[in-house]
Amino acid sequence: MSLIVDKFNRKVEYLRLSVTDRCDFRCVYCMSEDPSFLPKEQVLSLEELAWIAQAFTELGVKKIRLTGGEPLVRTDCDKLIELLGQLPGLDDLSMTTNGSRLSKLAQPMHDAGLKRLNISLDTLNPDLFTEMTRNGKVERVIAGIDAAKAAGFKHIKINAVILRGKNDHEVIDLINFCRDRELDIAFIEEMPLGVMDERKRSRHCSSEEVRGLIEEAYPLIPSSKRTGGPARYYKMADSNIHIGFISPHSNNFCHECNRVRVTVEGRLLLCLGNENSVDLKSIVREFPGDIGKLKEAILEGIQHKPKEHYFGTDDDVQILRFMNSTGG
Ligand code: GTP
Ligand code: 5AD
Ligand code: SF4
Repeated sequence: MSLIVDKFNRKVEYLRLSVTDRCDFRCVYCMSEDPSFLPKEQVLSLEELAWIAQAFTELGVKKIRLTGGEPLVRTDCDKLIELLGQLPGLDDLSMTTNGSRLSKLAQPMHDAGLKRLNISLDTLNPDLFTEMTRNGKVERVIAGIDAAKAAGFKHIKINAVILRGKNDHEVIDLINFCRDRELDIAFIEEMPLGVMDERKRSRHCSSEEVRGLIEEAYPLIPSSKRTGGPARYYKMADSNIHIGFISPHSNNFCHECNRVRVTVEGRLLLCLGNENSVDLKSIVREFPGDIGKLKEAILEGIQHKPKEHYFGTDDDVQILRFMNSTGG
C-alpha cells in the first residue's frame, strides 16, 4: 500500500521517471524546432536516478515507467534498468520510446529486465512521419517495433497522437498495422504544452472523433483492461488487440490520478498540467544516498498535488515547458 497519499486521498503508485530531455526526433507536438537541452551537470546521474526510484519504491510505488525525451538516447539505460530491477516492491518496469533505436537496443533492454514498451508511431506514411517528427524515418521505427517483438517483449503498446488535417485519415491504417502484429494501440489527444497558437488549437482532434472513424470500419466493444494509466480501452470483435483512448481534454481522468513525474533534473512534478514541483536534485546532491531525506521531501511535496490538470482553453493558462522536458 502506497504511503504517498495526497490531500484528495489519491494514492501514488506510479512514477514516470525521465532519464533525458534529449531526443533524436523533434515531434511537432512535443518540442520546439530548435530546442535547448539541459547542460550535463544539471542532469541526474544513474546513481542519483536510482536513489530517487528507491525512495519512491520504499514509499510504496510499484510501477516505474522510464520516459524522456527519448530514453534510449541515453546509452547507459540498460544499467539503470538493472539497478531498478533490484528494487524490492517494484513489479512493473516499463519504457516509453520513439522506437528509433530499438533495432539495436530492444534485446539488451529486454535482457536487462525491462518488461513493457510503449512505442510512438503517429503515421505509416514516410513523408508525413518525417514532417511530424521533423527528421525521423518511419522504416527505422517499424524495424524497431519488429525487433522488440523478436526480443521477447510481450506487452507493446503503440501511441499515436492524432492531429486534424495531418494524420487523422490514417487511423484505420494504424489499427490494421497493429492488428497484423498483435499490438495494442492508444490514440492520444494532443496536450497543449509549450507555446500555443491558433494553428495548434485548430488541429485538435478529439477521442470521440477518432472513435467515430474507427467504428465506421470496426465496431468497438468496451473492455475492462486497465494498465494504471489514463487510457480507456476497447476491443474489436475479431481481434485480441486493445484500442485505447487517452483524452486529457474530453475525459478528465484526474480524480483517479495515481502518478507523479520526476524530470531528469530531479524536479518532482506533481501533475502534467501544473507547475507545482519539488526540487529533489538539491537533496540528492547535498545528501548523496540519503533515502530518508528524499522520502521526507516526497511526502511533504505530495500535499501540493493539485486536484486536476487545467490546460486552459484560451490564452489564460499555458504550460510553457515542453513535453520533452516534462517526461511525457
Ligand atoms: P501505461 O498505461 O503504463 O501503458 O502507460 P501510459 O499510457 O500512461 O504511458 P505513455 O507513456 O504511453 O503515455 C501515453 C500518453 O498519456 C502520453 O501522451 C502521456 O503524456 C499521457 N499521460 C500519461 N500520464 C498522464 C497524466 O497523468 N496526465 C495527462 N494529462 N496525460 C498523461
Ligand atoms: N500531447 C499528447 N501526447 C504527447 N506526447 C508527446 N507530446 C505530447 C503532447 N503534446 C506523447 C508522445 C509519446 C508520449 C510519451 O507522449 O507521442 O507517445
Ligand atoms: Fe522525441 Fe517523443 Fe518528443 Fe517525439 S514525442 S520529440 S519522439 S520525446
